[in-house]
Amino acid sequence: MQPAHLPVMLEEVVACLAPKDGGLYVDGNLGLGGHTEKILETCGPTGQVVGFDWDAAALTLAQERLARFAGRVHFVHENFTSIKETLMELGIGTIDGLLLDLGLSSLQLDVSGRGFSFKGSEPLDMRMDQRQTTTAAQLVNEATEEELADIFFFYGEERQARRIAEEIVEARRKEKIVSTAQLVALVDQAIPKRFHPKKIHVATKVFQALRIAVNRELDSLEQVLADGASLLAPGARFCVLSFHSLEDRLVKQAFRENPLLEAVTQKPLTPGRAECLRNPRARSAKLRVATRGLN
Ligand SMILES: C[S@@+](CC[C@H](N)C(=O)[O-])C[C@H]1O[C@@H](n2cnc3c(N)ncnc32)[C@H](O)[C@@H]1O
Repeated sequence: MQPAHLPVMLEEVVACLAPKDGGLYVDGNLGLGGHTEKILETCGPTGQVVGFDWDAAALTLAQERLARFAGRVHFVHENFTSIKETLMELGIGTIDGLLLDLGLSSLQLDVSGRGFSFKGSEPLDMRMDQRQTTTAAQLVNEATEEELADIFFFYGEERQARRIAEEIVEARRKEKIVSTAQLVALVDQAIPKRFHPKKIHVATKVFQALRIAVNRELDSLEQVLADGASLLAPGARFCVLSFHSLEDRLVKQAFRENPLLEAVTQKPLTPGRAECLRNPRARSAKLRVATRGLN
Protein backbone atom coordinates (compact mmCIF):
# COMPACT_ATOMS: atom_id res chain seq x y z
CA MET A 1 0.00 0.00 0.00
CA GLN A 2 1.22 3.54 -0.80
CA PRO A 3 2.19 5.43 2.41
CA ALA A 4 -0.33 8.14 3.37
CA HIS A 5 2.29 10.85 2.80
CA LEU A 6 5.33 10.65 0.54
CA PRO A 7 8.27 12.67 1.93
CA VAL A 8 9.16 15.42 -0.54
CA MET A 9 12.71 15.69 -2.00
CA LEU A 10 13.86 13.03 0.44
CA GLU A 11 17.26 12.35 -1.13
CA GLU A 12 18.01 16.07 -1.59
CA VAL A 13 16.96 16.95 1.96
CA VAL A 14 19.12 14.25 3.53
CA ALA A 15 22.09 15.12 1.29
CA CYS A 16 21.82 18.79 2.34
CA LEU A 17 21.30 18.07 6.02
CA ALA A 18 24.27 15.65 5.85
CA PRO A 19 23.52 13.75 9.09
CA LYS A 20 26.68 12.57 10.82
CA ASP A 21 27.22 9.61 13.13
CA GLY A 22 25.88 10.34 16.59
CA GLY A 23 24.45 13.71 15.54
CA LEU A 24 21.38 15.36 17.06
CA TYR A 25 18.77 16.70 14.64
CA VAL A 26 15.45 18.49 14.93
CA ASP A 27 12.58 17.79 12.55
CA GLY A 28 10.17 20.68 13.11
CA ASN A 29 7.45 19.04 10.99
CA LEU A 30 7.56 15.37 11.84
CA GLY A 31 4.30 14.55 10.03
CA LEU A 32 4.32 10.84 9.30
CA GLY A 33 8.04 10.62 9.98
CA GLY A 34 9.27 10.08 6.41
CA HIS A 35 12.22 12.47 6.58
CA THR A 36 13.06 11.57 10.16
CA GLU A 37 13.17 7.87 9.31
CA LYS A 38 15.84 8.55 6.68
CA ILE A 39 17.78 10.86 8.99
CA LEU A 40 17.80 8.18 11.71
CA GLU A 41 18.99 5.58 9.20
CA THR A 42 21.83 7.89 8.19
CA CYS A 43 23.13 9.18 11.53
CA GLY A 44 24.44 5.88 12.89
CA PRO A 45 23.18 3.85 15.84
CA THR A 46 23.50 6.69 18.34
CA GLY A 47 22.19 9.63 16.29
CA GLN A 48 18.94 11.19 17.56
CA VAL A 49 16.02 13.26 16.31
CA VAL A 50 13.67 15.53 18.23
CA GLY A 51 10.46 15.62 16.16
CA PHE A 52 7.76 18.28 16.55
CA ASP A 53 4.20 18.06 15.31
CA TRP A 54 1.25 19.86 16.77
CA ASP A 55 -1.20 17.46 15.15
CA ALA A 56 -1.77 14.60 17.59
CA ALA A 57 -2.99 12.24 14.83
CA ALA A 58 0.22 12.71 12.82
CA LEU A 59 2.35 12.16 15.90
CA THR A 60 0.63 8.84 16.68
CA LEU A 61 1.31 7.57 13.17
CA ALA A 62 4.92 8.74 13.30
CA GLN A 63 5.39 6.91 16.61
CA GLU A 64 4.20 3.67 15.00
CA ARG A 65 6.41 4.13 11.95
CA LEU A 66 9.50 4.97 13.98
CA ALA A 67 9.00 2.35 16.73
CA ARG A 68 12.17 0.49 15.70
CA PHE A 69 14.25 3.56 16.60
CA ALA A 70 13.04 3.55 20.21
CA GLY A 71 15.19 5.72 22.46
CA ARG A 72 16.55 7.70 19.49
CA VAL A 73 13.46 9.82 18.76
CA HIS A 74 11.80 12.33 21.07
CA PHE A 75 8.22 13.08 20.04
CA VAL A 76 7.01 16.57 20.89
CA HIS A 77 3.33 17.49 20.56
CA GLU A 78 3.89 21.24 20.28
CA ASN A 79 4.16 24.05 17.77
CA PHE A 80 7.74 24.24 16.51
CA THR A 81 7.83 27.78 17.90
CA SER A 82 8.45 26.15 21.28
CA ILE A 83 11.81 24.81 20.02
CA LYS A 84 13.93 26.82 22.47
CA GLU A 85 11.99 25.92 25.61
CA THR A 86 11.51 22.31 24.55
CA LEU A 87 15.20 21.70 23.85
CA MET A 88 16.11 23.40 27.10
CA GLU A 89 13.72 21.08 28.96
CA LEU A 90 15.34 18.09 27.23
CA GLY A 91 18.75 19.36 28.36
CA ILE A 92 19.89 20.05 24.80
CA GLY A 93 22.12 23.08 24.14
CA THR A 94 22.93 22.93 20.42
CA ILE A 95 21.82 20.77 17.51
CA ASP A 96 23.60 19.41 14.43
CA GLY A 97 20.85 20.24 11.96
CA LEU A 98 17.28 21.48 11.64
CA LEU A 99 14.68 20.55 9.05
CA LEU A 100 11.34 22.22 8.38
CA ASP A 101 8.92 20.62 5.89
CA LEU A 102 6.17 23.23 6.04
CA GLY A 103 2.45 23.02 5.60
CA LEU A 104 0.16 20.03 5.55
CA SER A 105 0.65 16.31 5.12
CA SER A 106 -1.38 14.44 2.52
CA LEU A 107 -3.12 12.77 5.43
CA GLN A 108 -4.40 16.10 6.75
CA LEU A 109 -5.39 17.23 3.28
CA ASP A 110 -7.08 14.09 2.06
CA VAL A 111 -8.53 12.21 5.00
CA SER A 112 -8.49 14.27 8.18
CA GLY A 113 -12.05 15.54 7.61
CA ARG A 114 -10.98 18.90 9.07
CA GLY A 115 -11.79 21.06 6.09
CA PHE A 116 -8.34 21.56 4.56
CA SER A 117 -9.49 20.34 1.15
CA PHE A 118 -11.94 21.99 -1.22
CA LYS A 119 -12.98 18.56 -2.52
CA GLY A 120 -16.12 17.10 -0.93
CA SER A 121 -17.82 18.68 2.04
CA GLU A 122 -16.27 18.85 5.49
CA PRO A 123 -16.71 21.07 8.56
CA LEU A 124 -14.79 24.34 8.18
CA ASP A 125 -12.23 23.71 10.89
CA MET A 126 -8.66 23.93 9.50
CA ARG A 127 -6.98 23.79 12.91
CA MET A 128 -3.81 21.72 12.69
CA ASP A 129 -3.83 21.42 16.46
CA GLN A 130 -7.25 20.67 17.90
CA ARG A 131 -6.23 22.51 21.09
CA GLN A 132 -6.32 25.82 19.21
CA THR A 133 -9.46 27.83 19.77
CA THR A 134 -10.21 29.67 16.51
CA THR A 135 -11.59 27.66 13.61
CA ALA A 136 -11.99 28.65 9.96
CA ALA A 137 -15.77 28.71 10.48
CA GLN A 138 -15.35 31.31 13.22
CA LEU A 139 -13.24 33.52 10.97
CA VAL A 140 -15.60 33.17 8.02
CA ASN A 141 -18.69 33.94 10.12
CA GLU A 142 -17.30 36.52 12.54
CA ALA A 143 -14.49 38.51 10.88
CA THR A 144 -15.46 41.81 9.29
CA GLU A 145 -15.66 42.10 5.52
CA GLU A 146 -12.43 44.09 5.52
CA GLU A 147 -10.61 41.55 7.69
CA LEU A 148 -11.70 38.73 5.39
CA ALA A 149 -10.60 40.64 2.29
CA ASP A 150 -7.19 41.25 3.90
CA ILE A 151 -6.81 37.56 4.80
CA PHE A 152 -7.59 36.48 1.23
CA PHE A 153 -5.35 39.16 -0.29
CA PHE A 154 -2.32 38.94 1.97
CA TYR A 155 -2.30 35.20 2.77
CA GLY A 156 -3.75 33.93 -0.52
CA GLU A 157 -2.55 36.63 -2.93
CA GLU A 158 -6.13 36.42 -4.22
CA ARG A 159 -6.90 39.33 -6.53
CA GLN A 160 -10.65 38.88 -6.13
CA ALA A 161 -10.36 39.17 -2.34
CA ARG A 162 -12.87 42.03 -1.99
CA ARG A 163 -15.53 40.38 -4.12
CA ILE A 164 -15.22 37.12 -2.21
CA ALA A 165 -15.38 38.84 1.20
CA GLU A 166 -18.50 40.73 0.09
CA GLU A 167 -20.20 37.52 -1.12
CA ILE A 168 -19.43 35.78 2.18
CA VAL A 169 -20.75 38.60 4.34
CA GLU A 170 -23.94 38.79 2.25
CA ALA A 171 -24.48 35.01 2.45
CA ARG A 172 -23.85 34.68 6.19
CA ARG A 173 -26.66 37.17 6.92
CA LYS A 174 -29.05 34.46 5.75
CA GLU A 175 -27.30 31.30 6.86
CA LYS A 176 -24.18 30.36 8.84
CA ILE A 177 -21.31 29.09 6.69
CA VAL A 178 -20.22 25.83 8.24
CA SER A 179 -18.92 23.57 5.46
CA THR A 180 -16.18 23.61 2.87
CA ALA A 181 -18.79 22.99 0.15
CA GLN A 182 -20.66 26.18 1.13
CA LEU A 183 -17.43 28.16 1.01
CA VAL A 184 -16.39 26.73 -2.37
CA ALA A 185 -19.81 27.62 -3.83
CA LEU A 186 -19.53 31.20 -2.54
CA VAL A 187 -16.03 31.68 -3.96
CA ASP A 188 -17.15 30.19 -7.28
CA GLN A 189 -20.11 32.59 -7.37
CA ALA A 190 -18.09 35.64 -6.31
CA ILE A 191 -15.40 35.39 -8.98
CA PRO A 192 -16.64 36.27 -12.45
CA LYS A 193 -16.15 33.27 -14.77
CA ARG A 194 -13.63 35.12 -16.93
CA PHE A 195 -11.33 35.46 -13.90
CA HIS A 196 -11.52 31.79 -12.87
CA PRO A 197 -7.97 30.39 -12.76
CA LYS A 198 -7.10 27.80 -15.42
CA LYS A 199 -4.50 25.73 -13.63
CA ILE A 200 -5.75 25.63 -10.03
CA HIS A 201 -9.12 25.17 -8.35
CA VAL A 202 -11.08 28.39 -8.01
CA ALA A 203 -10.96 28.16 -4.19
CA THR A 204 -7.28 27.18 -3.81
CA LYS A 205 -6.10 30.61 -2.71
CA VAL A 206 -8.97 31.22 -0.30
CA PHE A 207 -8.36 27.85 1.38
CA GLN A 208 -4.63 28.56 1.64
CA ALA A 209 -5.33 31.98 3.11
CA LEU A 210 -7.77 30.74 5.75
CA ARG A 211 -5.45 27.92 6.79
CA ILE A 212 -2.56 30.34 7.21
CA ALA A 213 -4.74 32.70 9.25
CA VAL A 214 -6.25 30.00 11.48
CA ASN A 215 -2.84 28.48 12.26
CA ARG A 216 -0.88 31.77 12.27
CA GLU A 217 1.57 30.00 10.02
CA LEU A 218 3.69 32.94 8.90
CA ASP A 219 4.22 34.27 12.44
CA SER A 220 5.29 30.80 13.55
CA LEU A 221 7.66 30.47 10.61
CA GLU A 222 9.35 33.81 11.30
CA GLN A 223 9.86 32.83 14.91
CA VAL A 224 11.30 29.37 14.23
CA LEU A 225 13.63 30.75 11.56
CA ALA A 226 15.17 33.05 14.16
CA ASP A 227 15.10 30.71 17.17
CA GLY A 228 16.20 27.69 15.15
CA ALA A 229 19.26 29.51 13.81
CA SER A 230 20.39 30.35 17.33
CA LEU A 231 20.34 26.65 18.34
CA LEU A 232 22.53 25.34 15.52
CA ALA A 233 26.09 24.26 16.28
CA PRO A 234 28.74 25.95 14.11
CA GLY A 235 28.67 24.37 10.65
CA ALA A 236 25.23 22.77 11.22
CA ARG A 237 22.67 22.91 8.42
CA PHE A 238 19.22 24.52 8.38
CA CYS A 239 17.02 23.03 5.60
CA VAL A 240 13.56 24.36 4.79
CA LEU A 241 11.03 22.92 2.34
CA SER A 242 8.32 25.46 1.54
CA PHE A 243 5.27 25.18 -0.68
CA HIS A 244 4.17 28.70 -1.58
CA SER A 245 5.74 32.05 -2.27
CA LEU A 246 4.83 33.66 1.08
CA GLU A 247 6.75 30.98 2.97
CA ASP A 248 9.65 30.95 0.53
CA ARG A 249 10.03 34.73 0.79
CA LEU A 250 10.40 34.56 4.58
CA VAL A 251 12.94 31.74 4.36
CA LYS A 252 14.98 33.51 1.69
CA GLN A 253 14.99 36.72 3.73
CA ALA A 254 15.98 34.98 6.98
CA PHE A 255 18.79 33.06 5.29
CA ARG A 256 20.12 36.28 3.76
CA GLU A 257 19.70 38.60 6.71
CA ASN A 258 20.30 36.54 9.85
CA PRO A 259 23.94 37.22 10.78
CA LEU A 260 24.25 33.72 12.25
CA LEU A 261 23.48 32.06 8.90
CA GLU A 262 25.19 31.71 5.56
CA ALA A 263 22.93 30.72 2.67
CA VAL A 264 24.15 27.58 0.89
CA THR A 265 21.51 27.74 -1.86
CA GLN A 266 21.29 31.11 -3.61
CA LYS A 267 18.39 29.75 -5.65
CA PRO A 268 16.07 27.15 -4.13
CA LEU A 269 16.39 23.51 -5.18
CA THR A 270 13.25 22.04 -6.73
CA PRO A 271 12.11 18.45 -7.27
CA GLY A 272 12.83 16.56 -10.47
CA ARG A 273 10.21 15.68 -13.06
CA ALA A 274 9.99 12.05 -12.01
CA GLU A 275 9.19 13.01 -8.41
CA CYS A 276 6.51 15.49 -9.51
CA LEU A 277 4.86 12.79 -11.61
CA ARG A 278 5.02 10.29 -8.75
CA ASN A 279 3.90 12.82 -6.13
CA PRO A 280 1.99 15.85 -7.47
CA ARG A 281 2.19 17.50 -4.04
CA ALA A 282 5.93 17.94 -4.61
CA ARG A 283 5.38 20.22 -7.61
CA SER A 284 5.43 23.47 -5.68
CA ALA A 285 8.26 22.50 -3.31
CA LYS A 286 11.30 24.71 -2.84
CA LEU A 287 14.26 23.65 -0.72
CA ARG A 288 16.55 26.28 0.77
CA VAL A 289 19.59 25.49 2.86
CA ALA A 290 21.79 27.60 5.15
CA THR A 291 24.73 26.86 7.42
CA ARG A 292 25.42 28.26 10.86
CA GLY A 293 28.63 30.25 10.52
CA LEU A 294 31.73 29.16 12.42
CA ASN A 295 31.92 32.23 14.67
C1 LIG B 1 4.37 18.35 5.19
S1 LIG B 1 3.99 17.58 6.67
C2 LIG B 1 5.51 16.83 7.15
C3 LIG B 1 5.73 15.50 6.52
C4 LIG B 1 6.97 14.77 7.00
N1 LIG B 1 8.17 15.48 6.65
C5 LIG B 1 7.02 13.36 6.47
O1 LIG B 1 7.92 13.05 5.70
O2 LIG B 1 6.13 12.57 6.82
C6 LIG B 1 3.91 18.93 7.76
C7 LIG B 1 3.57 18.57 9.19
O3 LIG B 1 3.93 19.68 9.99
C8 LIG B 1 2.95 19.90 10.98
N2 LIG B 1 3.02 21.31 11.33
C9 LIG B 1 2.69 22.37 10.55
N3 LIG B 1 2.95 23.52 11.18
C10 LIG B 1 3.48 23.19 12.38
C11 LIG B 1 3.97 23.94 13.50
N4 LIG B 1 3.94 25.27 13.49
N5 LIG B 1 4.46 23.27 14.55
C12 LIG B 1 4.49 21.90 14.57
N6 LIG B 1 4.03 21.14 13.55
C13 LIG B 1 3.54 21.77 12.48
C14 LIG B 1 1.65 19.46 10.35
O4 LIG B 1 0.73 19.06 11.34
C15 LIG B 1 2.11 18.31 9.44
O5 LIG B 1 1.93 17.06 10.08
